[in-house]
Amino acid sequence: MGPVERDDSDRDDSDRERSYEATFARQHRQLDAMFDGLLLALRSDAGELHGVRERFAALRDALEAHVDQEDRLYYPAVRALRPVYRPQIEQLFDAHETFRARLGEIDASLANGAAADARAALGEFARAFALHEAAEEQMLRSIDAELAAAAAETPLP
Ligand SMILES: [Fe+2]
Ligand SMILES: [Fe+2]
Repeated sequence: MGPVERDDSDRDDSDRERSYEATFARQHRQLDAMFDGLLLALRSDAGELHGVRERFAALRDALEAHVDQEDRLYYPAVRALRPVYRPQIEQLFDAHETFRARLGEIDASLANGAAADARAALGEFARAFALHEAAEEQMLRSIDAELAAAAAETPLP
């Protein structure tokens, strides 16, 4: 099973566990752990990049799968439910494009054996991505709360 696929073993039927925010947050923590492992490996293994490149490839696959899900599945739905968030979502789409491009550049550094460049670029990437994750989770918490409030205010006839 890939790192950002749904894990059925801890499936929970509560609304909370099925919320957008909970799904994203779970995937974000998985990506955070992959960043931590990769940065650690780059620090301790600067001369031997083979294992680092494998870790990077796994992180890149997982991160691209995550942002693809956001772009194709979640954010179009969120935008339809709450058009007021459209500008924020457009910014997130732009950030995803930047992240994809940056991953390609870091991959090239690793392929060239430029460990110090890759380490610096990955540290910067990890910080930028953490801010991105926090902004997404905050937005989705707000949307979850708004939708829950709207549902509560709309009793069945
Ligand atoms: Fe994102
Ligand atoms: Fe995300």
